[in-house]
Amino acid sequence: MRRGHIILIFLLGELMSMTWAAVRVDARIRAAETMSMRRSQTEQLRKRDKTPLSRSQLFKLTPGESLEEDTEVDDALGGKVERLHETYKGFKVYDTVVTVRKSKNGELTGDATGHFYQNIDEDVPNTEAKLSPNQALQIALKVENDDEENIGSVKTDKFIYVDKKDGNKAKLVYQLSYLIDGFKRPFYIIDANKGKVIQHWSGFNTYPCCERKYTAIGGNEKIGKITYGNMPYCLAPTIVNGTCYLENEYVRVVDMENTRHNNITETASFLCDEGYGDEVNGAYSPATDAFFYGTVVGKMFEEWFGGTALKEKIILRVHFSEYMENAFWNGVNCTFGDGGSDLYPLTSLDVVGHEIGHGITEQSSNLAYYDEHGGVNEAFSDIMGEAAERYLLESDFLTGGSIMKNSSYLREFETPENDGVSISKVSDMNDSIPVHFSSGVYRRVWYVLVKQEGMPIREAATVFLHANKMYWHSTASFHDCACGLLMAALDLGYSTLPFNVAFSDVGIDHCEVESHILGLNKNRTVSDITVTESVNPVFKFTTPEWADTLIVDATGTYPTWISVFIGGWEASNDACGEEKGEVIAEGIDTVYVPNAEDKQFYMKFSRHGSDMSNTTLIGFNAVDITAGYTCQQNFSEFNWWYLRDCGLKLPDY
Ligand SMILES: *[C@@H]1O[C@H](CO)[C@@H](O)[C@H](O)[C@H]1NC(C)=O
Ligand SMILES: *[C@@H]1O[C@H](CO)[C@@H](O)[C@H](O)[C@H]1NC(C)=O
Ligand SMILES: *[C@@H]1O[C@H](CO)[C@@H](O)[C@H](O)[C@H]1NC(C)=O
Ligand SMILES: *[C@@H]1O[C@H](CO)[C@@H](O)[C@H](O)[C@H]1NC(C)=O
Ligand SMILES: *[C@@H]1O[C@H](CO)[C@@H](O)[C@H](O)[C@H]1NC(C)=O
Ligand SMILES: *[C@@H]1O[C@H](CO)[C@@H](O)[C@H](O)[C@H]1NC(C)=O
Ligand SMILES: *[C@@H]1O[C@H](CO)[C@@H](O)[C@H](O)[C@H]1NC(C)=O
Ligand SMILES: *[C@@H]1O[C@H](CO)[C@@H](O)[C@H](O)[C@H]1NC(C)=O
Ligand SMILES: [Zn+2]
Repeated sequence: MRRGHIILIFLLGELMSMTWAAVRVDARIRAAETMSMRRSQTEQLRKRDKTPLSRSQLFKLTPGESLEEDTEVDDALGGKVERLHETYKGFKVYDTVVTVRKSKNGELTGDATGHFYQNIDEDVPNTEAKLSPNQALQIALKVENDDEENIGSVKTDKFIYVDKKDGNKAKLVYQLSYLIDGFKRPFYIIDANKGKVIQHWSGFNTYPCCERKYTAIGGNEKIGKITYGNMPYCLAPTIVNGTCYLENEYVRVVDMENTRHNNITETASFLCDEGYGDEVNGAYSPATDAFFYGTVVGKMFEEWFGGTALKEKIILRVHFSEYMENAFWNGVNCTFGDGGSDLYPLTSLDVVGHEIGHGITEQSSNLAYYDEHGGVNEAFSDIMGEAAERYLLESDFLTGGSIMKNSSYLREFETPENDGVSISKVSDMNDSIPVHFSSGVYRRVWYVLVKQEGMPIREAATVFLHANKMYWHSTASFHDCACGLLMAALDLGYSTLPFNVAFSDVGIDHCEVESHILGLNKNRTVSDITVTESVNPVFKFTTPEWADTLIVDATGTYPTWISVFIGGWEASNDACGEEKGEVIAEGIDTVYVPNAEDKQFYMKFSRHGSDMSNTTLIGFNAVDITAGYTCQQNFSEFNWWYLRDCGLKLPDY
């Protein structure tokens, strides 16, 4: 058996005759047989059986392995993107993500990206474990020195883990986590046969403020007295017979009454006429703030991203413990302390957005909370906080700007190093840097993207969210996350350019995503692609040597501007790698490109005119596009492919 990394190339016959899709298979390759899956074989496969390829055919899965659906969304390119994970004999294979493109009616196009494992059966012939889940739990409790009596929310999942530190051997493991005191939440991955701890981390996504004493100059920014009830500070509690409940369709607030008692679960309520009266530590009503800001985040998801933030209604617990200078997501709800000498109560918009952001990540990519993925996890949360600020009013590009008593912020985006502990260059990264500081790399990415390159926050956040949902995976590196963002940008019709500028700013190596660009088939119309002022999808099209003039056509509700590129799909000096190209023709609705033989074209569709400030992302100004070419009249007449392609009479022999 061979182990190692490999690129598999599939070509799916007529379905996508011009698109080559790369599928990376991490390790466990069954010798040459898998590698030789090439055009001829794939075509034979298709000829024998006209039905679309199944997933196990497409990915050459070995017995017991399968790819299961996680989630599916529409893209801007008239199709769908679906994320899958691998299972083996019904058990999830840790950290596998395969993202496939499907046509509008749900058929696999053959375009896939991600990684999964093959030949797991050779390492894990059976899925019976020697240890019970409880024995594994005892191992973790012993390492943590915790008493079983005091723990709750125990989660034990059995799955397959490919241990990179042990020659990529597949192992049956338990991943377990529990909560103690409602706020310590260790995670363990334990070999289910040998009892060895393979990996462990603190899954507790905190908001640590006093890990460092940072005394800075600057105005002690405070929220100030906010009068809720008027735009944009609308407040909508549930009112029943004069009693106000801090609950609406987005959020529910629970008052922990300065305890850590998890058995307090009822919604905070008060007589509307009297007000809540929970003033503490310089804040006038943390419960009302949490309720309002939770609502803002919920509304942002509904209005900007089309959906809910979390699978269940957001629960925010306030007044947790006594003067706790922290806030956290515990896997179920977000909890906020009342602060202390350094902090006001932590119920600011960016901190509320941050904690809900952890919930989103846990329910999407589940980026593990250590190393580079932990840094991205933290940065994503800070970014959600800034997006929520922008949704309400303006982002200040500071995390915790309004709750720090003696300094102006907790973390910042422009120059993360300014806090004395964060990094913003990949070259400064090492595994002992805490996640709240390594998050500086992606905070800086966000800053360059939004502030320097001018990408609107809503659009940038949409791309981050799509990447988190569809492409990132638990142990994704800074670089992997960048690749995911570029693919997400292409899916949604946004330019990859500002992302690449931001990645090079922080020193993330360039990621080639050319293979992710959707190929067009000659004369086959793709319908319902989304074209707005900012959503500008890119497609590619390859011509044979007998092509004469390329013809690109767009038909939509409004005139469509077509740009045809060669060399790459961005015509900017800042572009690099395969992205860098030049515009060789452009125009409205139909473009002709002479001397089109034997070339790879990229075409970008955008809105003509600039009256379009009010566009929604998907499903607006649906455009139908077609690419084709005329044939050279005098091309070598003995070429069978030429004659067939150009509809000429085949010679008689
Ligand atoms: C509403 O509250 C009043 C007094 O607080 C009480 O007398 C009345 O029964 C309540 N009505 C309902 C429907 O609960
Ligand atoms: C809630 O838990 C606390 C301590 O864990 C206990 O003292 C209290 O009685 C419990 N309350 C209820 C209503 O069960
Ligand atoms: C919040 O999460 C903790 C930990 O899982 C749980 O014990 C508690 O019941 C939850 N509270 C609410 C109101 O959901
Ligand atoms: C922050 O300021 C408050 C009063 O303004 C003071 O009580 C507290 O000690 C200060 N904290 C630090 C870390 O300087
Ligand atoms: C990791 O980086 C930190 C901060 O730059 C540095 O203090 C520490 O020595 C580094 N540790 C290792 C093991 O390189
Ligand atoms: C947005 O566009 C729609 C459709 O053209 C139009 O009905 C609506 O009034 C526009 N809204 C604004 C705020 O311009
Ligand atoms: C394909 O499109 C080209 C260019 O528009 C056209 O000349 C040709 O006739 C079309 N071929 C077919 C089979 O429709
Ligand atoms: C075909 O004819 C064109 C002029 O019509 C000429 O430029 C070209 O070289 C010819 N191609 C071949 C393959 O003979
Ligand atoms: Zn956090």
